[in-house]
Amino acid sequence: MSEQTDVELELQVAGREELAENVIGLRLRRPDNAPLPDWTPGAHVDLVLDDDLVRQYSLVGPVSDASEWRIGVLLEAEGRGGSRRVFEQLHPGATVRVRGPRNHFELALANRYVFIAGGIGITPLTGMLAEADRTGTPWTLTYGGRTAVSMAFARELRARYGERVTLVPQDEQGLIDLASLVGEPAEGTLIYCCGPTPLLEAVETAAAQWPQGALRFERFTPVEGIRSDPDEAFEVELALSDLVLTVPPGKSILETVAEAGIDVLSSCAEGMCGTCETALLAGVADHRDSVLTQEEKDENSSMMICVSRAKASRLVLEL
Ligand code: FES
Repeated sequence: MSEQTDVELELQVAGREELAENVIGLRLRRPDNAPLPDWTPGAHVDLVLDDDLVRQYSLVGPVSDASEWRIGVLLEAEGRGGSRRVFEQLHPGATVRVRGPRNHFELALANRYVFIAGGIGITPLTGMLAEADRTGTPWTLTYGGRTAVSMAFARELRARYGERVTLVPQDEQGLIDLASLVGEPAEGTLIYCCGPTPLLEAVETAAAQWPQGALRFERFTPVEGIRSDPDEAFEVELALSDLVLTVPPGKSILETVAEAGIDVLSSCAEGMCGTCETALLAGVADHRDSVLTQEEKDENSSMMICVSRAKASRLVLEL
């Protein structure tokens, strides 16, 4: 199971800047300027904008500065209101509840990295570039966006890392040439990609020959078609609470345990953020999340109880 923290902090907006068209950067600090919890490249935090409005944002940049966290926020005109709330309310001096950090997109050791970003998907990769640079591991970043002015951090990254960063504004250069970038598998190389679903699907197709585990994704939307079986009722045994509950069709484990008075921290309720990850002590899960890798799903030692169900009649959870 990845690192998990239930810490919730009240942080203050120490700075706000326009990073690109419809993208702002926020710097968050504790009001007393005390150090913030450690984090690792690829981590995200939850911004609790309201009791029922929680959004995940990746932490940006090198992990070394414990005095503040940086995030980049894209205004999603067609979204469900989270980014709009951030744009309207989070000005310097405002406070916001922040949970985490949490990391389901960790940078594993490799001989070489191929980083691919689409749009705001650049944010979790910024910390990875800094880390790869620090360890002297060879890497390249190919970063695509609709237009040059929509690409946050583009100039900053190009200035800092030079030729290792290739910018591909779509209106000038078209789509990233993935066939040349990842067509041939390379021993010891890992591909890290974050961006909109069409980009991730295209990378998956282009890298079809790569070994399992070489591709590491962070998604903005749940993977489609992940529900292999129809919902059936099953039992969950909650080992720490000494309870057995029935999860009916159409209701999640998360909802079922909440009704029984067991509090599990959750956020996206879509199997995307990893907040509700729960240790699985026995039984086989029907994993329906977009967080765990296939290897982690096969390990069957934890599950996202907001979406995942059971492959057999009973699961035993560490709750
Ligand atoms: S609440 Fe986000 S994965 Fe379950």
